[in-house]
Amino acid sequence: MQNKNILLGVSGGIAAYKACSLTSKLTQAGANVRVMMTENASEFVSPLTFQALSRNPVYIDTFDEKNPQKIAHIDVADWADIAIIAPATANSIGKLANGIADDMLSTTLLATEADVYIAPAMNVHMYAHPAVIKNMKQLEQWNYYFIEPGSGFLACGYVGKGRLEEPESIIDTVVNHQNSKKIQGPMNGKKVLVSAGPTREQIDPVRFFTNRSSGKMGFAIAEAAAELGAEVTLVTGPVNLETKNTSIKRVDVITSEEMYQAMHDHFDDKDVVIKAAAVADYRPKHTFIEKLKKQSGNWNVEMERTQDILQSLGEIKNKQFLVGFAAETTQPLEYGLKKLQKKNLDAIVINNVSSEGAGFEGDTNIATYVNESLNPEEIPLTTKKEMALKLLELILRDLRDDKL
Ligand code: PMT
Repeated sequence: MQNKNILLGVSGGIAAYKACSLTSKLTQAGANVRVMMTENASEFVSPLTFQALSRNPVYIDTFDEKNPQKIAHIDVADWADIAIIAPATANSIGKLANGIADDMLSTTLLATEADVYIAPAMNVHMYAHPAVIKNMKQLEQWNYYFIEPGSGFLACGYVGKGRLEEPESIIDTVVNHQNSKKIQGPMNGKKVLVSAGPTREQIDPVRFFTNRSSGKMGFAIAEAAAELGAEVTLVTGPVNLETKNTSIKRVDVITSEEMYQAMHDHFDDKDVVIKAAAVADYRPKHTFIEKLKKQSGNWNVEMERTQDILQSLGEIKNKQFLVGFAAETTQPLEYGLKKLQKKNLDAIVINNVSSEGAGFEGDTNIATYVNESLNPEEIPLTTKKEMALKLLELILRDLRDDKL
């Protein structure tokens, strides 16, 4: 952050108070910060607060031109190395996604060529509204970078997703993302989506169905792709793993339904999608709100099919190179090839999970990679990290120009 010119856009939500701390931390980190507020934001926090914390004048009004030599919104747009919008309201996101420039902040954001980071904060239902989702997807496609809101108590009284990410975390994300852009690797400029881990299908508040996936294989792929220079989003089920490379955008989910949603939310703009997660094929038909008391005799749990996430992505893919995994215990090649074709994949990684050193939980794997040519390529016993690098090498080889 040292000597970086940061434009901090503050739009009108209660989380504007957190932007004060963000301004202070950015300034302490050595950045030159100029704050631009919407009129609505100035209802929540006084511009003077930001002026004192940034030691720079605060911009609100497009027509408040203090220097006749310059046009302020173009000058700030050109000056900025990085722009951060925090908090970003549904309104400010909507305006940017639709090219609306009707105040100082929205006009400047259209004029800047800086990297723009958007940290949304809003009511949980607003965040889930199709219009907001559509606008965010559009901006992601245009390479705007989102810093996902956290879950918790919201000022509006609801509990859920929509709370502005903490200032430290916003700065970490920006720094890590800027650093990852400097990595020169064969996956530079590629956007990769990886799924990892199991899903958990709840029967009652204390019992659930799951499987043995530890997430190690999927995490290894995400880490390796980031090391090769890719911009990585990792959707993970419940695992005990940390994302060591903090440039990876991590989305935590629990159920197969949540994984379905997260994979679809992050799919559109990706170049490569790798589905290493072990998704439950069945879930209890009824989830009991209260813990079920034990009774004499057997308990039959009626199960229903979950959606096949990979197959649904295969149906809508356009430019994405879609890679599935197959965990088999018998006739791995035969069953794996069926999945490749049925799910409209570009490649499949087949692991015989009954082989020693392969599959779930351990640090190693043995796999067969098969692409559209249906020619099996064996990857012998190796660490999951090495396996991940080898798989990415094969995927890079197979990426056709028309997929980029
Ligand atoms: O996590 P680890 O402990 O490191 O273990 C790694 C692993 C064994 C989980 C991994 O290497 C692996 O094989 N992952 C796929 C496991 C699996 O669910 O296989 P499958 O054959 O049941 O499914 C085939 C493909 O369809 C997979 O890509 C799966 O993500 C996908 N699928 C399956 C069911 C479903 N409802 N939706 C899906 O998207």
